Amino acid sequence: MRFFIKSYGCQMNSYDSQRMSDMLAGVGYELVPSPEDANVVVLNTCSIRDKADEKVFSDLGRLKSIKDKSSEDFLIVVAGCMAQLRSQDIIKRAPYVDIILGPQNIQQIAAIVDDFIKNKALDTVVSTSMDANSKFNQLFGKFSNRSVSEFLTIQEGCDNFCTYCVVPYTRGREFSRSVADIINETKNLISLGVREITLLGQNVNSYNGEDLGGKSCNLSGLLFRLADIDGLKRLRYTTSNPKDVDCSIAEAHRDIDILMPSLHLPVQSGSDAILRKMNRKYTQGEYLRCIDMLRSYRPDIAFSSDFIVGFPGETDEDFEETLELVKKVNYAQAYSFKYSPRPGTAAAKMNDQISDDVKSERLQILQDLLNDQQSQFNENFIGRCLKVLFVKNGKHENQLVGRSEYSHAVSVSADNVSIGDIASVRITSVASHSLIGTIER
Ligand code: 5AD
Ligand code: SF4
Repeated sequence: MRFFIKSYGCQMNSYDSQRMSDMLAGVGYELVPSPEDANVVVLNTCSIRDKADEKVFSDLGRLKSIKDKSSEDFLIVVAGCMAQLRSQDIIKRAPYVDIILGPQNIQQIAAIVDDFIKNKALDTVVSTSMDANSKFNQLFGKFSNRSVSEFLTIQEGCDNFCTYCVVPYTRGREFSRSVADIINETKNLISLGVREITLLGQNVNSYNGEDLGGKSCNLSGLLFRLADIDGLKRLRYTTSNPKDVDCSIAEAHRDIDILMPSLHLPVQSGSDAILRKMNRKYTQGEYLRCIDMLRSYRPDIAFSSDFIVGFPGETDEDFEETLELVKKVNYAQAYSFKYSPRPGTAAAKMNDQISDDVKSERLQILQDLLNDQQSQFNENFIGRCLKVLFVKNGKHENQLVGRSEYSHAVSVSADNVSIGDIASVRITSVASHSLIGTIER
């Protein structure tokens, strides 16, 4: 039997897709590069914004026509956040979907697929309970096919209830994996050739897992423990909520050589009034003090962020505050989105929704500013050297692509370096989303 997986949305979904792949490979299924060649197609979906949902329905339409033509078993599995949130809509709009798995139920994939085929089931099987603990305890499979840089989920779910965000309803309450479990998985990954690990959590700074001695361990404690593991060359973590960043994480950035000096610290808005309505629990002043504190421990740290424009009630003055904040921080990179009302969230029910025209206008202004900052940040490196970990072949012959300490994509001509090496690269020019350089001898 052959399977194909498509992952939408965030890095945690990529991690879950990899683990579903491991589980299907563990029962003898073979991964294939296109849905036409598969017997089982898994769409691992995202629900963070409206557009993500619609993309899945249009992909399902295409899968239906493959299914209609197929003479073999052809199972369609919808997994992930949209599966959790909209199982009934999926059954109504796409009744040919065979299996629906919420994010905390992906560990059942191999057993459910097997059962479905054996019993020639007719009705859609829906599994959407929410227990992250049982997910991680049962995620076995054939651990293989890893690249040099991989994700590792250490914490999942969210208790913050930002008023725009659907995640607490899709991934449930916060859950932290134990230190022993994470060390074990890290060692497994290293044995497969992984050299860089990005620890994942919806709220990674509130990681609070059971330590080796039975006490609890915070994120910086975990980073110090992982930094001692032989063979690991680089560590990163994402996503941080500014309200949970403290000195202990700044100390980790100062003291751990393999912890990279780049930090994704989503601010969402620069207006205190909007931050309050978003339930973010910090002000612009507090956010800026957090940035200053981190820079005082690790002056070269590069910040990235997420922004939402057009949140209900956002005035021109509120939006100006966001632009002012961006100018004060100077971001290396950022993502920005138009606010998208999500079912079940508090902000979707607020009555001062902003028109799409205003959202588009503000998004353009913000993105122009953020793009300028990113270009400036990148151009600053021309003529300087960066330490690059090479992760894959480039599009051109004899080209390798790697990642700098500050998270830039860097491409070089691949003389005397291989995937998995770290080398010093002198930057010669800047392309739209990457840097280009030559290896320093
Ligand atoms: N509308 C627009 N953007 C959103 N995000 C989360 N929820 C929404 C929403 N309802 C953005 C936030 C978050 C990122 C992952 O997605 O900026 O940090
Ligand atoms: Fe959503 Fe807030 Fe949780 Fe992030 S911290 S996932 S924005 S609720």
